Amino acid sequence: MIDLHSHILPGIDDGAKTLEMSLEMARIAVRDGTTVMACTPHIYPGLYMNDSAGIHAERDKLQRALDTYGIPLKLVVGADAHLVPELLDGLKSGRVPTLNGSRYFLLEPSHHVPPPNFESSVFNIMAEGYQPVLTHPERLVWIEHNYQTFVTLAKRGVWMQLTAAAILGKFGKRARYWSERMLDEGLVHLIASDAHTVNMRNPQMAEAVDRAAASVGKEEALRMVYERPQAILDDVAPELVAPALGLLPEQPVRASAAKPWYKRLLSI
Ligand SMILES: [Fe+2]
Repeated sequence: MIDLHSHILPGIDDGAKTLEMSLEMARIAVRDGTTVMACTPHIYPGLYMNDSAGIHAERDKLQRALDTYGIPLKLVVGADAHLVPELLDGLKSGRVPTLNGSRYFLLEPSHHVPPPNFESSVFNIMAEGYQPVLTHPERLVWIEHNYQTFVTLAKRGVWMQLTAAAILGKFGKRARYWSERMLDEGLVHLIASDAHTVNMRNPQMAEAVDRAAASVGKEEALRMVYERPQAILDDVAPELVAPALGLLPEQPVRASAAKPWYKRLLSI
């Protein structure tokens, strides 16, 4: 599997505290079937002042340690970028890294209240050619009264990333409910661990993928941890990647019918 959201780099945000903890997180991920992991520390001005250069340096250090200890996990660079007014400038200048240098980036909205002008802020960033992957919508407190916002964003092309542990109920009943609802409505593109530690918020994903398969089918569940994350790493244009099931065109048009992902979907 490919896990595109983790706080495995030690000592630079609220994730892993020490190198030993990072190594143990990596061992857990590998045992669970993960081969590639994005290091995506928080970038939140005033709180976590990470930037691209620092994240690259820390990734290189941890990769060397993994190689030394024979832990077969490939690390790539990214960031868990908080939605702030200067985000677009940060992406353009390269200070805020995208996922593996692609057009895709992790976008974290505020947790407790809807960000002002949320939709237009996101669309402004997309208009500049960046592809947001919205992190853990199921855990945002304000989804309770604003679910339609997420449906609209998904329909307008924003990718949605669920947290593996939330699907399993480890973030409580509400997060599980919203996970299931988004899966059932076919609005989910990716599953990632958002791992912070070796305990509850660890990097395991396999069990959650199995659970998701009960809702969306095995092939689509696997697409959330193999095909779409690989497409991100390869910077494939989003329109060339299989859409989430609820976002399929109702009538197949000639162009989409010719795409490999559409043929595969028809054969399920
Ligand atoms: Fe995160």
